[in-house]
Amino acid sequence: MSGEPILVVADVTKRFGGFVALDHISVAVGRGERLGLIGPNGSGKSTLVNCISGVLTPEDGSIRFAGADVTRLAPHQRTRRGIARSFQIPRPFTSMTVLENLCIPLEYATKGWTQRSKVVAEAEEILALGGLAAKAHQLPASLTQIELRKLELARAMAARPSLLISDEAMAGLSGAEVDDVLSLLFALNARGITIIMIEHIMRAVMAFS
Ligand SMILES: Nc1ncnc2c1ncn2[C@@H]1O[C@H](COP(=O)(O)OP(=O)(O)O)[C@@H](O)[C@H]1O
Ligand SMILES: [Mg+2]
Repeated sequence: MSGEPILVVADVTKRFGGFVALDHISVAVGRGERLGLIGPNGSGKSTLVNCISGVLTPEDGSIRFAGADVTRLAPHQRTRRGIARSFQIPRPFTSMTVLENLCIPLEYATKGWTQRSKVVAEAEEILALGGLAAKAHQLPASLTQIELRKLELARAMAARPSLLISDEAMAGLSGAEVDDVLSLLFALNARGITIIMIEHIMRAVMAFS
C-alpha cells in the first residue's frame, strides 16, 4: 500500500425518506488491499456499495476514488474510472452466451477500439480464471448456482476494474464452493485489484481480510 488510499468514503449519509440507511460512514481502502465488510441483513452494506458504484447518491459526505471526487458521477463514469461491483443476485444477459456476457463490458472498457479477437481472448482468459472456460458458449440458464456467482464476478472483471466490490457472492453456497469463490477473489487480488468483500460467512471473511 502506498500513497493516497484508492477509495476514501468520508462521512457518507444516505436516507430513504425518513429512514437513515447510512449514518456518517467513513472508510478508506488502500491500493491492493483486501477489505472484509460484515453486518446483519439490512445494516446498509449494499446501500454503501450502491453509493460507491453510483447507483445511489448520498445526501451527505463524499466519495473519492483514485484521487478524484466521484460522489456525483454516474455509474458508467465510475466504471470507466475503475470501480466494478457484483450484484447479490446475479444479473447476466440471459439471451447471450457466457462469453458474450463478458465481451459487452470488455468492449465498453476498451472503448470499442480493440479488435474483436483481442476482446474474445481477454474474455476467455477471465473465464479461465474462474474455471468457466468450458461454459463459454452456453447460455447462463444452463449454469449451476456457483457458476452463476463466478460469472457475475467475471462480468465485473471484464470492466477491467482497479476496485472490485463483491456483494455476498458466496451466500447459499456449500463449504467447498465458498472456498472456490474465495480462491477466485484471492487470485484477482493477486493481479493487483483492490477488493472489498461483503459476506456473512465469517470463516471466509477472516481468511480473506
Ligand atoms: N432503494 C431503497 N429504498 C428504500 N429503502 C431501501 C432501499 N435500499 C435499501 N433500503 C433499506 O435500507 C436498509 C439497508 O439495506 P441494505 O443496504 O440492502 O442492507 P444489507 O445489504 O446490509 O442487507 C434496509 O432497511 C433496506 O430496507
Ligand atoms: Mg446486501
